[in-house]
Amino acid sequence: MTDEKINQKYQKKIKLFQKYNKYYYNLNEPIVSDNDFDLLKLEIIKLENKYKFLNSANSPSNSVGFKPSKVFKKVKHTVPMLSLGNAFDENDLINFEKKILNFLNEDKNFNIKYSAEPKIDGISASLIYEDGKFITGLSRGDGKEGEDITENLKTIKDIPYFIKSKNFPRKIDIRGEVFIQNSDFEKLKNKFANPRNAASGSLRQKDPKETKKIPLKFIAYTFGFEKGLKAASQSEFLNNLKEWGFKTNPLNRTLEKVKNLMNNYKEIEKKRGDIDFDIDGIVYKINDFRLQKRLGNVANAPRWAIAHKFSANSGISKIKNIEIQIGRTGALTPVAKINPVNIGGVVVSNATLHNEEEINRKDIRVGDTVLIERAGDVIPHVISVDKKMRIIDTKKFNFPHKCPSCGSKTIKDFNYTTRKEDAVRRCSSEGYECEKMSIEKIKHFVSKEAFNIEGFGKKIVENFWNLNLIKLPQDIFRLDFKKIESLDGWGKQSVANLKYSINLRKTISFERFIYALGIRHIGLENAKIISKNLKSLKNFIALSKKSNFDDLINIDGIGETQINSIKNFFRNNTNLNVLKSLNDLLKVKDAETPKVGGLLSNKTFMFTGKLSSMSRSEAKSLIEQNSGSIVSNVTKKLDYLIIGEKPTNRKIDAAKGLGVKILDQSSWLKMLK
Ligand code: IVH
Repeated sequence: MTDEKINQKYQKKIKLFQKYNKYYYNLNEPIVSDNDFDLLKLEIIKLENKYKFLNSANSPSNSVGFKPSKVFKKVKHTVPMLSLGNAFDENDLINFEKKILNFLNEDKNFNIKYSAEPKIDGISASLIYEDGKFITGLSRGDGKEGEDITENLKTIKDIPYFIKSKNFPRKIDIRGEVFIQNSDFEKLKNKFANPRNAASGSLRQKDPKETKKIPLKFIAYTFGFEKGLKAASQSEFLNNLKEWGFKTNPLNRTLEKVKNLMNNYKEIEKKRGDIDFDIDGIVYKINDFRLQKRLGNVANAPRWAIAHKFSANSGISKIKNIEIQIGRTGALTPVAKINPVNIGGVVVSNATLHNEEEINRKDIRVGDTVLIERAGDVIPHVISVDKKMRIIDTKKFNFPHKCPSCGSKTIKDFNYTTRKEDAVRRCSSEGYECEKMSIEKIKHFVSKEAFNIEGFGKKIVENFWNLNLIKLPQDIFRLDFKKIESLDGWGKQSVANLKYSINLRKTISFERFIYALGIRHIGLENAKIISKNLKSLKNFIALSKKSNFDDLINIDGIGETQINSIKNFFRNNTNLNVLKSLNDLLKVKDAETPKVGGLLSNKTFMFTGKLSSMSRSEAKSLIEQNSGSIVSNVTKKLDYLIIGEKPTNRKIDAAKGLGVKILDQSSWLKMLK
């Protein structure tokens, strides 16, 4: 049998498994006996073990016998469990260091010490200790909210229950990785596809006795909140962890300079096969906690750490066809349909070609033999074309100048920052006028960071769209549930679940609402900034009636690109209709006013000239941490103008004219105590 045939057979079984599961869990009416159900599970796992390339998110080995959300109590993390940015080569590391030096306002001679820690590919967990006793253990969940898996974690021998050391903090949330050693996994091969799944599956068993049967290990590497921690650096903290009885990774190192990070990386990558647990890269953390604190976080990841991934796996295949996908903002992404190829255990049959420019630069054609690379969860992409293998009469690929979905002209924007034409070609129609864009816009609307409607996945959006049940976002809140109940694959219980999750989101925060609209250039961060400044949906809608956008112009972080994009949004009648309907159907909560009581609360600041002790970005984040805000124009609304070296005299004069207080750097820092 060919790999493709085996995969087909496997996917059929997965489909059947999903069906049984649905009847069992969602509808509470199993359609097969437990025995048949278990037999099917076993068949799937056996196939996965025999053919390592088989993989499916819906495999029983990814969800053995449990429905976590139903079983475990959800608990909010006091400090979110962040993820990490990725680096793939030396250049990425050089850039990482440069950005840090810029932020800290230091020159290239400043020596940064890093803690370099092999990145274990397991399941992260957070362990809360109070007065030396292990109280609560949580899974990562979505980073903000995890599941209470205390009892299961208690079965792991590496997790100390009582810690008596004198310097153990009064309260601390110790974080680390739960994993299974490869040698132990050997014995469990029949039940799980890989060690990570085995760890995850056993950690979330309903019955802790089941967890105990599997030899899970724990390695500690960071902390969330703490009261009374003495360590001043990551390396000191790692030593503390050992003193307190935790296991730490014996391959952790403290290093300086990118060159040494690279040497260490190569050395560990070579050893990878000999280590008894899976690692997928090296995590670098700025060692000094004071610097970590100054650097802070961006969106979901710390500025002070990065994961250097081990090199990707690659494989060779042939391009059968090039298809064009249309994204939410109209971007046309070419995707190569390739003969299925097994790359590092996963069958790959699509590879992104990024954009028109990439196709032209590499002269990629249908029929070409190509080298494909796949790294972790990143979409596989084409590295190079083997021109020697090219069949002589293949033609250059013509990128469509008309949108394949709606027929509108496709255009390339001019980028004013780079002074070049964009590499990406887009459909020129405005959002909902293009079918493919509309569908993608609705997928974005219901997605996790936007309305977060549980159970409303991409497939359901497509399905409901094709059945004319939804065409615009507001249709979600006017769904005909009776009709849905009569559809194939839906029943009373699943419709009730859907209705419940939709109703739950009829009240929503202003920032999520703005983000959900999917306005180009308004991502999560910008949506937050707009929400904080405009405060309510009413003020946002009011923009549509204004000829100027003064309310937005003064917001730091919102530039010309964003303002133009919002203007475009308001120019379109369908968008106005969407806004109006959603405003009628939903309750959009006003933005919470920032914590009062911050040292700089309700005060606005502006800088002119170079600061001597820190970068602009750090100064800005310091002001925001203390509840102040930054403006980018001298107006009556400005409270303080802070003057650095070589300030703009025009700004100082304007400030004097308006009676704005003028501060030098040291008086400003005194305000912050
Ligand atoms: S630090 C904000 N240290 O990698 C800092 N993470 O992509 C994040 N991981 O979810 C955690 N080894 O599961 C840290 N030595 C290490 C790690 C490590 C593995 C995992 C962890 C986290 C993911 C971040």
